[in-house]
Amino acid sequence: MPLPPPLTLTLSLFLLIAAAFATEIPRFREAPAFRNGGNCAIAGSPGSTIHIAMTLDTTYLRGSIAAIFSVLRHSTCPENIAFHFLTSSRHFQDLNRTITTTFPSLSVSLLHFDPLLVRGKISTSIRRALDQPLNYARIYLAELLPPSVSRVIYLDSDLIVVDDVANLWNINLGGHVLGAPEYCHANFTSYFTPKFWTTSELSKTFLKREKIPCYFNTGVMVIDVNKWRKGGYTSKLEHWMRLQKRHRIYQLGSLPPFLLVFGGEVQKIEHRWNQHGLGGDNIRGLCRDLHPGPVSLLHWSGKGKPWLRIDSNRPCPLDSLWAPYDLLYSPPSSSAAVLLSDG
Ligand SMILES: *[C@@H]1O[C@H](CO)[C@@H](O)[C@H](O)[C@H]1NC(C)=O
Ligand SMILES: *[C@@H]1O[C@H](CO)[C@@H](O)[C@H](O)[C@H]1NC(C)=O
Repeated sequence: MPLPPPLTLTLSLFLLIAAAFATEIPRFREAPAFRNGGNCAIAGSPGSTIHIAMTLDTTYLRGSIAAIFSVLRHSTCPENIAFHFLTSSRHFQDLNRTITTTFPSLSVSLLHFDPLLVRGKISTSIRRALDQPLNYARIYLAELLPPSVSRVIYLDSDLIVVDDVANLWNINLGGHVLGAPEYCHANFTSYFTPKFWTTSELSKTFLKREKIPCYFNTGVMVIDVNKWRKGGYTSKLEHWMRLQKRHRIYQLGSLPPFLLVFGGEVQKIEHRWNQHGLGGDNIRGLCRDLHPGPVSLLHWSGKGKPWLRIDSNRPCPLDSLWAPYDLLYSPPSSSAAVLLSDG
């Protein structure tokens, strides 16, 4: 018997709302246990902790878990690493449960990032994925992290670390607030609009910098959080976001404010710590090759993500380097089931 229309409507509305709130968190395997090597400082002793901050949401969760796993696996002192996850997700508790059950002995804290902080400060960019409020959470690290954290490594969720992260942690920031691999051959001019360059009030921004500003990617950064707090860098970044909203001085999302505030004042980090662009071309999604030189970190920046390409059976050759860190649970009987159903 068909339901009367108002009831059908109520029912479909209910289903729609239920679907919207359903948790879409997949299952993950528990990572193998990890232990400190012989020469590690006692975990928790002063100065022994390596602080790493990442964002966490349901969309990139599989990437985040692979990234965490890669960091632990290549670390000499994995028990001395503390992860701080910035999240705006309404699945806060589920995400926490997923992380703590996948990595039971990991020191984890989830920090709530309020997307209202950036509301009205985000202007649309050329790539929708870049406009997500969580992309801007890294701007608020100094406020979100506990005051006891004085240095932090910020990492994107679409990368894996294949070296001891302590080597990145221990770099000398040379008095700078921020360290990152820089790319001086990239055309810096093109990150800002002609309006920016022709308005002297704006373009003079880069005049008094220590060196010629170069492009750097905000997916891998080492930050002196104390210097950041003292220098009020969060407000400086917010200032440019407000200006962008009114005058459109750049095309991309959360990156240009970092270029505006830190360009020319960045501590250069070796390129091995950001072998970037493996996500491929933003427009056609082509596969990319590694840049020459040693590799400590592989970064699938760009449109394509290894887990999506692997799932769609169209992986790029380098995606095979990501796959060993994938902890997504797959039922052991699936291949047998396929065989049976094929039979
Ligand atoms: C996350 O889960 C752990 C373990 O279940 C719990 O001890 C901790 O309080 C939770 N954290 C938050 C922020 O809810
Ligand atoms: C850099 O980009 C700007 C603006 O997009 C362009 O006018 C300029 O010719 C470019 N410079 C080089 C060296 O390619």
